Amino acid sequence: MRATDHWLNASLAASHSGQSGIDNLPRGLPPWAYNHPDLFEIELERIIRPSWQIVGHVNAIPKTGDYLTVTIGPDSIMVVRDKQGKIHAHHNICRHRGARLVQGESGNCGASVVCPYHGWAYDHSGSLRALPVSESFPEIDRSHYGLYPVSLEIVMGLIFVAIKPPDYSVTELWRPMMEMLAPYRIEEMVPSSELLEMPWEINWKIAMDNYLESYHVPVGHPGLFRMFIPDYEQQDLLENGLNMGVAYFRDELSSNLAERIYQTNIVKYATHLSETDRRSWRFISMLPNMGIDIYPEQLDFFQILPSGPRSTLGRWQNFGLPDERPEMKTLRYLSTRISAQVQAEDDFLCAIVQENMKSSVYQPGPISRIESCVIQFHDRLRDLIPELKSNQVPKHFA
Ligand code: FES
Ligand SMILES: [Fe+2]
Repeated sequence: MRATDHWLNASLAASHSGQSGIDNLPRGLPPWAYNHPDLFEIELERIIRPSWQIVGHVNAIPKTGDYLTVTIGPDSIMVVRDKQGKIHAHHNICRHRGARLVQGESGNCGASVVCPYHGWAYDHSGSLRALPVSESFPEIDRSHYGLYPVSLEIVMGLIFVAIKPPDYSVTELWRPMMEMLAPYRIEEMVPSSELLEMPWEINWKIAMDNYLESYHVPVGHPGLFRMFIPDYEQQDLLENGLNMGVAYFRDELSSNLAERIYQTNIVKYATHLSETDRRSWRFISMLPNMGIDIYPEQLDFFQILPSGPRSTLGRWQNFGLPDERPEMKTLRYLSTRISAQVQAEDDFLCAIVQENMKSSVYQPGPISRIESCVIQFHDRLRDLIPELKSNQVPKHFA
C-alpha cells in the first residue's frame, strides 16, 4: 500500500458520520455500499421492510375486488378493496404451496381472492374461505391459513404498506405538512396516468442520493433551471426524515416554447390554489426511498424499490383532481413531458455514477452544504448499519 493510500484510509476509518481528515467536510457512503450483495440483504431487513411503502391511491381501486400490487425485495404485496369499501393489505402468496395469488400491477380479482393453482379461495380480508376437495385435508383448521398480514395506513387517500410494523405512522410523519398540502385536495385525486414500473440498473441509494439534492439542477437539468430558481435553501431533512423543497418559477419566462406555455397557463387554470402555489413545484422526499412531486395540476409519487445490489425498480404514478378541461389536459401533458425529460437526465446521471462505483481509485469526495439531505440520509443509514462507517468492505461480508 502506498503511503498516501494508507493516510487516506486511516483518515476515513477514523471518521465518524463520514467526516474525512483531509478537511472537515462531510463524506458520502463508501463505494462498496453501492455494490455489495450482503449489504443489499441487510438493507432490506433493517431499512426497507420496517418502513412505509406507497402502493397507490384509493381512487385507483374504486370497485370491489380491485387490487394493486407492489414488489418489495422478494415479496409481492397486494392491497384489495372489499365489498364494504374497506381496503386490506396482504402478502400476495398462497398459504398452500406458495403461488402468487394476483398477477400484474393492478386488476380486479372479483368476489374473492382465488389461487390460480389449486383454487384455495380467500376473502378480501384474507380469511381462507374455501378449498377444493377439502375432505382431503383431514383436520385442517382454516383459521390458521389466512393470508399473511401486512401493516396498512391510508393518508390523504394514499395507501402505504409495511412488511414489518414500523415504529412510526405516516399520519404523524406528515403532520407538519398537512396544512400546506390541504389546498391540493390529494384525497379527491384520481389517476391521471398509468402506474409505471421501470427496471433500473443502479443501486437504489444512487437514485435516492440524486433525488435528495438540487445541487445538480443547473448542470444536470437545463429545462428545470430555465423555469425555476433551485430550492437550495430548503435542503434539510426534518427529524422525521422528510424534506419539503419548493422551487418557484423565475420571474422571466423560459426561452423554451413548451415550458413557456406551461408557465403562462398554469397560473390561469390552477384556480383552486393560491398565486404562490400556482407558481411553484414542491418536491417532498420521504426516507428511505420515496418522493412526492406536487405540481399545481397534478402530483406524482416516485418510489425507488431495491431489487438487487445493482438493480432497482422505479415506480411512478400521476394523480390529479377530476378536471376534463382541455387546457388542464394540455398542462398535464406538458408537465409530464418536462418531468420525463428530467427523469431521462437523472437516469443518465445515476448510470454514470453506478459505473464508477467499482473504480480502483475513487474515494467519496466532499459534500456541500446544499447537499446536506444526502449526508443526513447517509448518517441515518450508518446508524442502522454501522458497517457503513467503514471505507472497506467488512470482513464478515462474503
Ligand atoms: S398453491 Fe395456491 S391453492 Fe395450491
Ligand atoms: Fe435530478
